[in-house]
Amino acid sequence: MTPTKTAVITGASAGIGRALAIEFARRGYHLGLTARRLDRLQTLRTDLLAAPNGAERRVEIAALDVDDAAAVGPTLGALFNTLGGVDIVVVNAGINRFTGIGKGHLPESLQLIQTNVVGAIATVEAAAEHLIGRGSGQIVGISSLASLQAMPKQAAYCASKAAFSMYLDAARLELKRKNVSVTTILPGFIQTDIMPRMEKFPFVVTAEQAAREMVTLIEKNKPFGVVPAYPWKWLRPLFGHFPDSVWRKLA
Ligand SMILES: NC(=O)c1ccc[n+]([C@@H]2O[C@H](COP(=O)([O-])OP(=O)(O)OC[C@H]3O[C@@H](n4cnc5c(N)ncnc54)[C@H](OP(=O)(O)O)[C@@H]3O)[C@@H](O)[C@H]2O)c1
Repeated sequence: MTPTKTAVITGASAGIGRALAIEFARRGYHLGLTARRLDRLQTLRTDLLAAPNGAERRVEIAALDVDDAAAVGPTLGALFNTLGGVDIVVVNAGINRFTGIGKGHLPESLQLIQTNVVGAIATVEAAAEHLIGRGSGQIVGISSLASLQAMPKQAAYCASKAAFSMYLDAARLELKRKNVSVTTILPGFIQTDIMPRMEKFPFVVTAEQAAREMVTLIEKNKPFGVVPAYPWKWLRPLFGHFPDSVWRKLA
């Protein structure tokens, strides 16, 4: 399969981002991959180029810490140019931490906002500038079901994802007339290293399954999607409406 489209993924060194890179490659895309851990990206690049039809594929990598908002535009801009233009930018880099309120966790809470909100907005900005210039393209934001439901010890994470989802909603409205679409993906619980003991959460799926569903949503150019689709498609309308007692039990 000769690649026809190019996708750039932030946070591609692990978890969902890494699985997305493998799934996009399987579907024949050229790739640009970024993260802080360049050694992991180098290994992933080697594996992707060694895979069937890998020699036909371009895989470019770049070290990028999205916390350094001023570096995001220039680093991604250089990557977009190296790839000769990009069709899809997946804003995936993100973190999670338990942050109790009034327990001295302000540094962790601020870090969450820096990476998941400031870093993500800087990435959307760089992507939008490039795609508007090309006259078309798609921005994909990896938000979270946590954007819809407040949870104890997750205040900063929920707030960060709610802010990012709202930013994406506004970007969708604004960029439509520039022929740039915006897809917001709300994952449920995906087995990655983002949180300890992820297997204890309900309806957990592997990063590989999540990536397959996500790339299908992206290729259909959907404005929104929950992953895994089932059961979250049915439960999603309830988010934000559960009685507080349900979530207080988690505290
Ligand atoms: N797993 C879930 O259940 C779940 C649920 C809902 C939403 N999400 C969202 O999905 C996204 C990916 O999460 P994941 O579960 O795949 O987590 P993960 O396995 O911990 O991977 C996170 C990725 O983000 C990168 N990253 C973190 N901080 C970064 C920074 N400052 N600059 C650049 N890259 C950074 C990491 O790369 P380096 O460390 O190499 O930089 C890594 O590649 C996040 O936005 C997360 O909030 C995950």
